Amino acid sequence: MNLQNKSIVLNIVLAVVVVVLGVRLVSGETSTENTASELKAVNAEQAVLDNIATRTSIRNYEARKVEKEKIEKMLRAAMAAPTAMNKQPWHFVVVDKRDVLDALAEVNPYAKMLKKAPLAIVVCGDTDKMIEGGGRDFWIQDASAATENLLLAAHAMGLGAVWTGAYPSEERCKGISVALSLSDNLIPLNMIVIGYPAENPQPKEKFKEENISYNVCED
Ligand SMILES: Cc1cc2nc3c(=O)[nH]c(=O)nc-3n(C[C@H](O)[C@H](O)[C@H](O)COP(=O)(O)O)c2cc1C
Repeated sequence: MNLQNKSIVLNIVLAVVVVVLGVRLVSGETSTENTASELKAVNAEQAVLDNIATRTSIRNYEARKVEKEKIEKMLRAAMAAPTAMNKQPWHFVVVDKRDVLDALAEVNPYAKMLKKAPLAIVVCGDTDKMIEGGGRDFWIQDASAATENLLLAAHAMGLGAVWTGAYPSEERCKGISVALSLSDNLIPLNMIVIGYPAENPQPKEKFKEENISYNVCED
């Protein structure tokens, strides 16, 4: 190969290298970035699974208040839940006044932790937004999905919380409605008691193979 041909080959090789590098630069793809984004996805997946696995009911709280920003984040997580026909048939009552928290503590004998908690969020179903007819009771699943999201958000932000049940107990629903002056369209599903944890209970191991069937259930 003479000098002129060598130079042509070299130019072609250089041109190919420049084009390949240009395409990767424009599409933002470099092997380092790929690895970094894959690692980020794996970490995000593990963080979500760890948050679910380490959540446990917390019933003792520090005296300190829960920040407004955290309350909003919990409410945003709650309202991100799926609902039948996307009805979002709910309403959330945020309670941080001592006298109201104390009144709520009297409503459910298993919710005495309210007396020392700085915050509760009462998750209600709203009859005005529910599916009409046979699908009405889907509100219970909708509001329960919101509740679990709220509990997980609380845990992710270093808060402790416990679900205390109201509906379908008529007595508890009535007591909560009176304590919060709820309008007739609101049905309290539960009271979520929240605060900074003053205890560190271990999450319960609940995974059981026998609770799972594949395709058809056998005896
Ligand atoms: C529908 C429902 C009602 C509950 N009611 C109460 C309650 O009134 N008081 C209470 O201390 N815990 C209550 N809990 C919390 C459960 O006791 C708790 O979730 C369960 O023991 C499992 O423990 P874990 O949340 O730590 O996994 C309730 C939970 C659910 C889902």
